[in-house]
Amino acid sequence: MDFDAENTPSNPDPRETISEIIERRFSRRGALLGGLSTALAGVAEAAPMHGGPSTLTFAELPHQLAQTDAVAAGHQSRVLIRWGDPVLPEAPPFDPRRVTAAAQAMQFGYNNDYLAVLPMQRGGAIGDRALLWANHEYTNTNLMFPGMGTSSQARARVSAEQAEVELMAHGGSLVEIEREGGSWKLARAGQLNRRITATTPMRISGPAAGHPWMRTNADPSGLRVLGMLNNCAGGTTPWGTILTCEENFNFLFGGELTEPALAESHRRYGIVANPPYGWHRHIARFNRTQEPNEANRFGWVVEIDPYDPQSMPVKRTALGRFKHEGATYAMAPDGRVVFYMGDDQRFDYVYRFVTARPHNPANPDRNLLDEGTLSVARYEADGTMRWLPLVHGTGPLTEANGFRSQGDVVLEARRAADLLQATPMDRPEDVEANPINGRVYVMLTNNANRSAEQVNAANPRPANAHGHVLEMIPPGAPDRPDHAAETMRWGLFLRAGKPGLDAGAQYHRATSEHGWLSCPDNCAFDSKGRIWIATDGAGSAAGVADGVYVADTEGRGRALTRLFYQAPTGAEVCGPLLLPDDSALFLAIQHPGEDPGSTFENPSTRWPDFVEGAPPRPSVIVITREAGGPVGS
Ligand code: FEO
Ligand code: CA
Ligand code: CA
Ligand code: CA
Repeated sequence: MDFDAENTPSNPDPRETISEIIERRFSRRGALLGGLSTALAGVAEAAPMHGGPSTLTFAELPHQLAQTDAVAAGHQSRVLIRWGDPVLPEAPPFDPRRVTAAAQAMQFGYNNDYLAVLPMQRGGAIGDRALLWANHEYTNTNLMFPGMGTSSQARARVSAEQAEVELMAHGGSLVEIEREGGSWKLARAGQLNRRITATTPMRISGPAAGHPWMRTNADPSGLRVLGMLNNCAGGTTPWGTILTCEENFNFLFGGELTEPALAESHRRYGIVANPPYGWHRHIARFNRTQEPNEANRFGWVVEIDPYDPQSMPVKRTALGRFKHEGATYAMAPDGRVVFYMGDDQRFDYVYRFVTARPHNPANPDRNLLDEGTLSVARYEADGTMRWLPLVHGTGPLTEANGFRSQGDVVLEARRAADLLQATPMDRPEDVEANPINGRVYVMLTNNANRSAEQVNAANPRPANAHGHVLEMIPPGAPDRPDHAAETMRWGLFLRAGKPGLDAGAQYHRATSEHGWLSCPDNCAFDSKGRIWIATDGAGSAAGVADGVYVADTEGRGRALTRLFYQAPTGAEVCGPLLLPDDSALFLAIQHPGEDPGSTFENPSTRWPDFVEGAPPRPSVIVITREAGGPVGS
């Protein structure tokens, strides 16, 4: 985002662990942390443009900043769906000069983020047709409507009518896609096509359902809410549903709040009287003076059943309320399902949810997400980490500290995690298990606010402008890791930034002058267990375009990142999604043209259409190999 979105910390006391311990560890080991003897044990080899010891064979792109995008030679890129394209059959054609709420409610929303590609039938395999789900995270008011000026001007001066369009531009889209000529295209709208917006009725389940803080004038039951907001990344479930995660909802609520306990709680989530967006001036439920509790109904993980167009989305409150990046699952050996989650704010935390019962594929329990244990991560300097349960009545989570129920705990998950002394992180984005080596990767995007006194073992750099990637190692064999274990080992996979220029940047030694990255955000794993990292913020942090970088996670090419895709200026790359056979890579290109001074009339890019007079359009693209076969190879 182009304003201080995730970047205003609201954790009042980001504890530091003892920096002397870290110093000692660094000087003793002379390498990274956590007892990973293989970490970055790279071998210097030549010819990194062709891979060096990497198992990836594509020719690496050069770093650059351009109006259009680029992909490694031998690959083709195709635009699959853009902001304004039809999702429902009755959607009118897109006209960027006359966007209406009614049209937007049937068209592809703005700022696509998380992507899922699902088989046409629940539990089936992906054939020549499939379902594509995309989140729509937020709106660039200045690039959506003419005559609005720059970003901050536009958000503040948004009209009531434009705010209604923005409500419809949030949420998610479900569309049918089909194979064509070795790639994929949008299919004619099918029966499962669906738009979810910031107005779609949703059910609230789990410990916070019906809680007094969840009740509003429009919903005295505290069980129904209209819509979801700022859905960033997400995940799927073993029972064939989609999880879509509410992140920076705080920027859509405004107005003064007087009730002290609630005001304190809102402060911890960064909700302020005068936010960057002007919705609260037009729509009563976004104004806390009129509806103090509406904001409590956002910041959750939402479950959507793509196979039942009539199904009501469900906010699963057992997974806690915070600025959720994503929620990705891994199976524990006993069949319980483990969801890894990041709270994307400077000095906030990494979380996990373990279902109370195992998943039964023969007879799935569709409410498995309502019961289980939410935990938060504490990383120790000795290379171990512990999952601290957020369970009402245990430790400090009692009435003495204002927690009267598990509903209180999930509603104020951040404050509960503060009391448990979780480790304040450098903005946790995707947290995802590698299905091949069994390790769990945490994208820590950056944290320029961390002072030298606030460094800890897991966040070892002060003024961390470029972020790092942390690796957790559950106990058990790599093909049978115990993701439900209370303790794990951990280490750092890489520290981002430009080697030689940015203090502490660290990769495989053979990483080329183009292979270094800045601001890791989303990730995916291919069928060989290699990590595909998408970045967000490299333009302002490092002066290079955001992109997709690929590295081995094991062997001689471990942490040798290579640049595979370069985004158009102003855009971040989200989603990365590989088909199970690696034959296609789907990417969500979010906020193209989000550069300082960019306007509807004079944007920094008009990607992907490059139509004079028209603004850029956030779009989902699909990359395949010209010769067929696995991308990147
Ligand atoms: Fe929406 Fe954390 O990125
Ligand atoms: Ca993100
Ligand atoms: Ca991901
Ligand atoms: Ca981000």
